Amino acid sequence: MKTRIAEKFQTLFGCEGEFYASAGRINLIGEHTDYNGGYVFPGAIDKGIIAEIALNGTDKVCAFSLDLDEYVEFGLNEEDKPAQSWACYIFGVCRETIKRGGKVAGFNTVFAGDVPLGAGLSSSAALESTFAFALNELNANGIDRFELAKIGQSTEHNYCGVKCGIMDQFASCFGKEGALIRLNCKTLEYKYFPFNPKGYKLVLIDSCVKHELASSAYNKRRQSCENAAAAIRKNHPEVEFLSDAKRLWLDEVRAEIPQEDFLRAEYVIGEVQRVLDVCDALERDDYETVGEMMYQTHFGLSKLYEVSCPELDYLNKLARKMDVTGSRVMGGGFGGCTINLVKDELYKDFVDTAVASFTEKFGHAPKVYDVVISDGARKLQ
Ligand code: GLA
Repeated sequence: MKTRIAEKFQTLFGCEGEFYASAGRINLIGEHTDYNGGYVFPGAIDKGIIAEIALNGTDKVCAFSLDLDEYVEFGLNEEDKPAQSWACYIFGVCRETIKRGGKVAGFNTVFAGDVPLGAGLSSSAALESTFAFALNELNANGIDRFELAKIGQSTEHNYCGVKCGIMDQFASCFGKEGALIRLNCKTLEYKYFPFNPKGYKLVLIDSCVKHELASSAYNKRRQSCENAAAAIRKNHPEVEFLSDAKRLWLDEVRAEIPQEDFLRAEYVIGEVQRVLDVCDALERDDYETVGEMMYQTHFGLSKLYEVSCPELDYLNKLARKMDVTGSRVMGGGFGGCTINLVKDELYKDFVDTAVASFTEKFGHAPKVYDVVISDGARKLQ
C-alpha cells in the first residue's frame, strides 16, 4: 500500500512527503455507552489508513484518494467544504484543528486504506486520526492525543452529521499493539489491558449489510438516551449522563417517558455494568464470563436498542448453537460485523459453517476478518 501511495504521490506532485498512519478499531464490549458517559473497551486493529503528506506552501489542500481514484482540492475556510464525503473528513479535521487555535498550512496528500467500509470498524475514525495526528506534527501545534481524538469526533459532529461518542477516535489515537483499552468516557480515565487469550481467537464476521439512514437512526438513539437521563435527573440531580443512573431510578420514570426511550436506557444501564464485569473476568482469565456478557450485549442491542438486523441476529444465533464462547453485533450496528470469541479448536468449523449457511440463507457471502490488536496513530519511518 505504501509503495502504491508513494508512486502516485510522485506522479501527482513530483516530490516526496512524510508517511502517517492510523487504525480502525474493534470493541470487545461497551456499545453505545460512550455518549452516555459510560465505559468502552476498544482496541486498534491491523487495518487502517496510510497517508503521504507534504506541506505545499499554499493555503490549499490537494488530496487524492487512491481507493476511490478521485482528486479533490479545497481551501481551509469554513465556506470551502468539499462536496465529496471522504474529503469532508479531511476538511473537518483541518477546520477543527484551526478552531482549537492550531495552524494548518496547505498540503498535498495521497492516502489509501484497508479498513472495510461500512463494517463497523471505524474507517472514518482511522482517516480522521491519521490527519489529526499528521497535521499536528507537520504544523508543530503541540495538541495532545485526547484533543486529537476530539478533533476527529467534532469532525463527525460538525461536518459529517453523526453525533458520535469518543470511542472510535480514542481507540485509533491511543491504540497499542496487544492491548485493549478501557476508557471511562465521563472522566476520560483509561487503562490498558493486555489481551492475548490463550486458547481463543477473536474473529469478525461481516454481514456486508450496510443500512442507509444509519446516521439518523444513531442520532435518534442518542436523543432517546438524553431524554431518559433528563427525566431521571429531575429526581436525581446528580445524574449528569445516563450512565450515572441506577436501574431503579429508570423504573421510577417509566410512566413519564416513551416506551422506546425506556428500552434504550434499560440497555445502556445494563451495558455499563457489563464492561466492568468483563474487565474483572479478564483479570481472572475467565473467558466464559466474557463470552456470556457478549451474548447479553447482543440481546440488548437487538431487542432493546434495536440496532441489529436479521443477518446479524442469524450469525449470533448460529454462534450460540455452535457453542462459540461469545458473540455479538459490534460497533454502531445497523449492519456490519459480529465479533466472536471462539475456542481455537472450534474456530475452523465455526467460520466454515457460518460462511456456508449465511451464504445459503442470504444469497451473498459474509467476509471473515481475524483480528490483530495493533498500534493506532503514528508516523511511519
Ligand atoms: C459508533 C460511534 C461510537 C460508538 C459506537 C457504538 O462507532 O462512532 O462513538 O457510539 O458507534 O458503541
